[in-house]
Amino acid sequence: MILGLLKEQGAEQRVALLPEIVSKLVEAKVEVCVETGAGVKAFQNDEAYSDVGAKIIKREDLLKKADLFVQIGEPDEELIKTLNDKQIWLSQYNPLWRTDLVKSFQSSGITSFSMDSIPRTTRAQAMDVLSSMATVSGYKAVLQAANELPNFFPMFMTAAGTIRPATVLILGAGVAGLQAIAIARKLGAQVEAFDVRAAVKEEVNSLGAKFVEVEGAIDDSAAGGYAVEQTDEFKKKQQEAINNHAAKADVVICTAQIPGRKAPLLIPTVAVERMRAGSVIIDLAASSGGNCELTKNNETLIHHEVKIVGQSEYPSQMPIDASKMFGKNVLNFLQLMIAEDGSLNLNFEDDIVKGTCITHAGEIFNERVKSVVES
Ligand code: NAI
Repeated sequence: MILGLLKEQGAEQRVALLPEIVSKLVEAKVEVCVETGAGVKAFQNDEAYSDVGAKIIKREDLLKKADLFVQIGEPDEELIKTLNDKQIWLSQYNPLWRTDLVKSFQSSGITSFSMDSIPRTTRAQAMDVLSSMATVSGYKAVLQAANELPNFFPMFMTAAGTIRPATVLILGAGVAGLQAIAIARKLGAQVEAFDVRAAVKEEVNSLGAKFVEVEGAIDDSAAGGYAVEQTDEFKKKQQEAINNHAAKADVVICTAQIPGRKAPLLIPTVAVERMRAGSVIIDLAASSGGNCELTKNNETLIHHEVKIVGQSEYPSQMPIDASKMFGKNVLNFLQLMIAEDGSLNLNFEDDIVKGTCITHAGEIFNERVKSVVES
């Protein structure tokens, strides 16, 4: 099999596979061709790839030659048109939102995999790019909050008096939220966290944060670790609790999301207007609408002296380690499909391969994506 590593488009700084991952694929007898300059923005030059056995080739040649393409970002329609139905696409292309791309892959008969559809099972944990990138985002969100805040995070007892620690409220205690709690605690802040999944209370407490309790959430134990839509009554109680806690916080970090749906609105404009002057909101749910009503994706704005940072591109801002994690996840996934002689074995008997495959031979393979496309 010839694997083609594509250069990311636009401002993206990561690369899907670092040279250290390419070397493992070469050892597994895969022929790896890398687009010229693919790793440059992640500080990996072409020589680093050729040194581990990859061929560096121009984009137009690579698009004709490779059997399997690997990149991080979504492809555009024009690129899909240049592929043929024997070629395979693998990236993180957000099929629950980008149903247009799903339909293009389906009608072109192209087999496509989307790494954000890896099933959330124990065996698949080492392939879970959403967890990897959420780890980066949770970390960076706290660092940016600390940087933007006109106060210290830790408590200081100085000759000039005692500085009280900052209070950080974290909304959503999934992978990004838990990481944000851990980093905010390490920087000395007092941390509170809220999530609709009651099961996370213990994890929140074990990281040294206080869990904000709201009674009456719908049981989500059958939803595979994801949040479920809640009743209007619960949402009202939750809203009051969040408004009260946000009003006392110096920093609010929003991470609450429901896969494939608009992010829940947790901080309405009135809640922002009750917050302290100088406080900061970092909204990691910005790309799916934001948890704060005022958030604009990849923009920073100020409302009533509260800074609101809508940020969905933190992983791109930490390209070396984010690429390292993404590539390791991809390698672990590809190992399910690489035969001993380096050829590709699309083993749809494997639940991870099947669950991650979005389109194949003109069909939509992934049940969840299929129901969204057909609705
Ligand atoms: P996510 O990015 O989909 O959502 C972030 C958090 O927001 C979740 O904890 C969710 O419960 C919360 N949320 C949603 N609506 C909310 C609302 N209205 N108010 C407050 N919070 C709200 O979640 P993420 O980080 O991708 O993972 C969620 C869970 O999935 C993990 O905690 C874990 O249990 C499970 N998981 C399992 C994996 C595996 O087994 N391979 C890998 C990663 C996660």
